[in-house]
Amino acid sequence: MLKAAIVGASGYTGAELIRLLLAHPKVEITALYARRAAGSSIGEVFPQLAPQLSMTIEAFDPDHVAANAEVAFCALPHGQSARAVAALYERGLKVVDLSADYRLRSAASYAEWYGSEKEPEHPHPELIGEAAYGLPELHRGSIRVAKITASPGCYPTSAILALSPLVRAGLISTEGIVVDAKSGVTGAGRSPGQATHFPEAGEGVRAYKVGGLHRHTAEIEQELGAIAGNELKVTFTPHLLPMSRGILCCAYARPSRDDVDTAALRKAMNDAYGDEPFVRVMPEGKLPDTAHVRGSNRAQVTALRDRRSGQVIAISAIDNLVKGASGQAIQALNLMQGWDETLGLMGGAIFP
Ligand SMILES: NC(=O)c1ccc[n+]([C@@H]2O[C@H](COP(=O)([O-])OP(=O)(O)OC[C@H]3O[C@@H](n4cnc5c(N)ncnc54)[C@H](OP(=O)(O)O)[C@@H]3O)[C@@H](O)[C@H]2O)c1
Repeated sequence: MLKAAIVGASGYTGAELIRLLLAHPKVEITALYARRAAGSSIGEVFPQLAPQLSMTIEAFDPDHVAANAEVAFCALPHGQSARAVAALYERGLKVVDLSADYRLRSAASYAEWYGSEKEPEHPHPELIGEAAYGLPELHRGSIRVAKITASPGCYPTSAILALSPLVRAGLISTEGIVVDAKSGVTGAGRSPGQATHFPEAGEGVRAYKVGGLHRHTAEIEQELGAIAGNELKVTFTPHLLPMSRGILCCAYARPSRDDVDTAALRKAMNDAYGDEPFVRVMPEGKLPDTAHVRGSNRAQVTALRDRRSGQVIAISAIDNLVKGASGQAIQALNLMQGWDETLGLMGGAIFP
C-alpha cells in the first residue's frame, strides 16, 4: 500500500480525499495535517468519517510528513500551498497540489492573478516547470512522469472539458468565447463567510467577480490557448447557486464556419471522450445535470448549435469537490503511480 498524507485534511476537499482514499485499493492514509484542527481527531472534525478512520490531525511539518508518507495531497488555500509543496518535493515526496499555486505556467501570470501586496511574486518559480497540469483528459502523458501535479480548478475543469474538443477540432472561433458557470457553495471552502452564509446564499442566485476578475479565467485561457496555438480571451462569469455541490457550465462561441452543425460538434466530443472513463457525452437531446454526477468523479458534456442564432453551446456538469478537486487529484495520483487511472474512483453518483 502506498502511504499518503493529506495536508489540509479538515477542509472540504480534504474530507473528500479521505472519503475516496478509504475506498482506494492501493493507498493507505498514514497522516493528516491542518492548522486550526491540529490536535483534533478526524471523528471530531468529520463525524461521518469516524467509523472508518481513527487518526489525530497534526500540525503541518514537512519532516513529519516525509517520515510518514510517500505521497502528499496538499489541499491548502492558494498562496499557502506553494511553500508546503516545495518543502515536500525537496524531501522526495510526490505531491498532488489542489491549490492554484502551480497551475499557471508562467511566474508572470501567477504574479498578475495571485500576487498580493505581501507576496507579489511566486515564492518558488523554479518549481513551476516541474508541475504537470492535472487534467488527465488533456495531460495524461505529463502527469504520468510528474513529481508535482497541479490539480485544476473546479470551474476550469468544467469549462475546459466543455470547450477543448471544439477548439481542438477548429469548430469554434477563439474570439468571443463566453463561459457562464454556476457553482455550489462548497466551491468557497469550509471557512464561513457572509457570501456563503445560509440566509444570504440560500434564497438567491448571483453572479460574482464579473468582468475578468475571477482568477480561474487565467487557467481557462492558458489551457484553451495552448490547444488553439494562440492566446485567447474568454468572458467568464461565475455564479453562486444555493446548493452544496456541483458546477454547471454553459459556454457559448461562434462557429468557425457556417457548415459546423450539431453532428460535427458531437463528433468532436465523441472523438475526444469516447475512450475516457469519466467523461460521458450525453445522448442527443439529453443535457448534463449536476444531480447526476453528485459525489462521483464523472463529468457529463454535450455540444450543439442553436438552431436560430447559430451560436455553438457547450455544456458540462461536474461535482466541484470530486471531478473538480479530490477525485481528479486521485485520478492524477493513479497516473503518477503507473496504476489504472480509475482505481478507487468508479463509485457512482449519489441521487437524489
Ligand atoms: N472547494 C472546491 O470546490 C475546490 C475545488 C478545486 C480546488 N480547490 C482548492 O483546494 C484547496 C482546498 O480547498 P477547500 O475547499 O478544501 O478549502 P477549505 O475547506 O477552506 O480547507 C482548507 C484547509 O487548509 C488548512 N490550512 C489552512 N492553512 C493552513 C496552514 N497554514 N497549515 C496547515 N493547514 C492549513 C485548513 O485547516 P484548518 O481550517 O483546520 O486551519 C483546512 O484543512 C484550495 O486551494 C482551493 O482553492 C477547492
